[in-house]
Amino acid sequence: MESCLICSTEISPFIDFGKMPLGNGFLLPEQYEQEYFFSMRVGFCPVCGMVQLLEQPDRERMFHDNYAFFSGTSRYMAVHFREFAEGVMERYLAEPDPFVVEMGSNDGIMLQNFAAAGMRHLGVEPSGNVAQVAREKGINTVTEFFGADLARRIVAENGQADAFLAANVMCHIPYLHTIVEGIDLLLKPSGVVIFEDPYLGDVVEKTSYDQIYDEHTFLFCTASVSYLFARYGFEVIDVEPQVTHGGSMRYVLCRKGMRPVSPAVPRQLEKERAMGLHLPETYDRFRKKCEESRDRLISLLRELKAQGKRVVGYGATSKSTTITNYCGITPDLVEFVSDTTPIKQGKFSPGAHIPVRPYEEFVSSYPDYALLFAWNHAREIMEKEEAFRASGGKWIVYVPEVGVLE
Ligand code: SAH
Ligand code: TMP
Ligand code: ZN
Repeated sequence: MESCLICSTEISPFIDFGKMPLGNGFLLPEQYEQEYFFSMRVGFCPVCGMVQLLEQPDRERMFHDNYAFFSGTSRYMAVHFREFAEGVMERYLAEPDPFVVEMGSNDGIMLQNFAAAGMRHLGVEPSGNVAQVAREKGINTVTEFFGADLARRIVAENGQADAFLAANVMCHIPYLHTIVEGIDLLLKPSGVVIFEDPYLGDVVEKTSYDQIYDEHTFLFCTASVSYLFARYGFEVIDVEPQVTHGGSMRYVLCRKGMRPVSPAVPRQLEKERAMGLHLPETYDRFRKKCEESRDRLISLLRELKAQGKRVVGYGATSKSTTITNYCGITPDLVEFVSDTTPIKQGKFSPGAHIPVRPYEEFVSSYPDYALLFAWNHAREIMEKEEAFRASGGKWIVYVPEVGVLE
């Protein structure tokens, strides 16, 4: 038995994905011997409702000066964050000379909009290489992990903040109590917390189990987020579903009673109960669907190999690490993975050791099938890859079901 990271209740795993490497741990053959693995088991806490990893690698192993994920690799995400920033400026920053802090600001994809508006801002980004890209764009960034200590220092230097923002990072952090303590210290009494992460409801509905990997310690829902923040006197005042990253939820919170609660909040809580997100049985069903999905995908790939077809992966996403390792996808089934990120190219995928090659190699010799690892960017990719399809190329997808797009 392990204990819940949020409320300390004893919990046990509902699924065991086995030994997993780091989702962003792209490596060279000479590093195979030292490759790091952890036991990826996931539990559900019936008391606070949190779905969580029961073991996480140390944070310094994941976030460092060679971090492989640059937010700016997706054009659509840049538009998404511009709209996110505009919404925050319009709705929540009424006081004069506002100050905005973002945790996990990466290459500055969100904060660049506040900087362009001449607004006081600070990014907190421990991965040195991506933080440097933001600084070069003129975005104020500290290379540190956010927590209560840093919050005190930020307040001493800048005063309290009007808004605390975070995208695709809150769910990465096992030590969430110090984060919320930090937010409590950092924010003005009327300040708002706005963050978004992949949504548990979408993962359960679409069997998108690849949202579970080392960096995703938690899969949040409205109920579990409310539980955690209520301990610090905060309440959820709005929820807004997002299509990004395969289905995310944006949560808006503030100190209890400071702002009106949108009717969307009780509505979402009701939906979550109707989906059974509060029931252990839901996660048993989810496990069975993961096993079925895995079996179908590997059979499909084996069948295509037997037919002599060429299959190439599209997008060396961190999420695909769970797919390749859990399903047992080897380089003889998937020739290489095409990716536009220079730091990943020439390396091999974590655990499965499939070569990662520049996008140009995909274009110069189209395979028969492309396995869409970056399914969360499907819209952008399908638009871009009309020529692949026109040349007879087919897409293999696995969310929400394993299949071939003819
Ligand atoms: N917000 C960006 C980046 C998400 S990736 C986007 O949505 O595209 C998560 C980022 O959070 C990484 O750049 C990682 O270095 C950073 N991070 C991880 N733990 C953190 C912490 N405790 N404080 C601040 N940033 C953190
Ligand atoms: P993400 O799912 O974590 O955002 O990662 C997406 C990965 O896919 C990233 O490594 C960049 C890559 N990618 C491509 O290679 N081509 C594309 O068109 C897109 C959108 C992403
Ligand atoms: Zn709990």
